[in-house]
Amino acid sequence: MKDILATLLGALLTFTLASPCSGAPASPDSGRSLILFYSLSGNTRLTAEALSRLTGASLAEIKTVEPYPDDFHAVVEQARQERSTGYLPPLLPLQANLNDYDTIYLGFPIWSNSIPQPMATFLSEHPLEGKTILPFCTHDGYGPGRSARVVTEYCPKAQVLPIFDMLGSEARDAEPKLASWLQELGVAASSARNIVIRINDVELSAVLDNSPVAGEFMRRLPLSIPMVQYGGREYYGGLDREIPTSEEGRLRFDDGDITYCPQNNSVAIFYAQSSRPNLTMKVIPMGRVTSDLAPLHELPSSVIAHFSLQSAQP
Ligand SMILES: Cc1cc2nc3c(=O)[nH]c(=O)nc-3n(C[C@H](O)[C@H](O)[C@H](O)COP(=O)(O)O)c2cc1C
Repeated sequence: MKDILATLLGALLTFTLASPCSGAPASPDSGRSLILFYSLSGNTRLTAEALSRLTGASLAEIKTVEPYPDDFHAVVEQARQERSTGYLPPLLPLQANLNDYDTIYLGFPIWSNSIPQPMATFLSEHPLEGKTILPFCTHDGYGPGRSARVVTEYCPKAQVLPIFDMLGSEARDAEPKLASWLQELGVAASSARNIVIRINDVELSAVLDNSPVAGEFMRRLPLSIPMVQYGGREYYGGLDREIPTSEEGRLRFDDGDITYCPQNNSVAIFYAQSSRPNLTMKVIPMGRVTSDLAPLHELPSSVIAHFSLQSAQP
């Protein structure tokens, strides 16, 4: 029964944004950010790690002194008792100084439609006054429940932004959804749009535009695209799947342009104007290389280009 409900609700509730709890949102990427999370079985930890790759923010884990039992039903029973008696399980010291951070990404699994009891311990000891909190949670399909409201109740002097939630079973693939959430909040847009292109031992920095085509390309990263050099001016290569668009594109390019060509479903990096600058197929600009283009002149005619978000670099 739990599984069936979880499946049905999961389809409806994989990505829910609740209303901000107070005031106008500050710019959360304007200060230093910490990703603070509790995770019992690892789903929220995976999500926190993906968030760290996207934002570059540090991670700190909330851990209980006494571990919970291994058996799921025993955990559920213990958590139920803790909740009903108001018991707050003691925590190990946090490996981070909260004074160093203005923005807290606060991650937790949903327990009985709310925050887990260890998070209740943490917030009762640290009400995160004056911080901007971006809550995120994983669950088994019943959604974030009242967790965002409970965070607000524990942290009345913090600014709590809309919660991100996703199925725990999808936590391994959290990055694209997290990137959309960040984009919707206007957070980390600059770091999320900076990408790196590695070709052999050449590393290029690039930035993607804030456009639908570029956004769809960004959601597919990391991508390795076999490319060939053409006309002494560009490297191009095909994508597995088309990027749907009604944008028309243009028949010219600037040096450094990263483009998508709907006609042959290919991505190109342009690096040298030629004597015949006009293209035969229309291309849609998606972004541009911001580092030196000279190394592209030295590469072999057939390469594999690895595109990834800059913040996802090891
Ligand atoms: C005690 C307990 C209570 C839970 N209650 C809910 C719930 O109310 N709704 C839900 O969708 N999932 C519930 N779950 C499932 C977890 O929220 C889900 O598996 C989550 O992804 C686990 O994250 P973690 O691996 O980071 O611990 C519960 C799990 C536990 C252990």
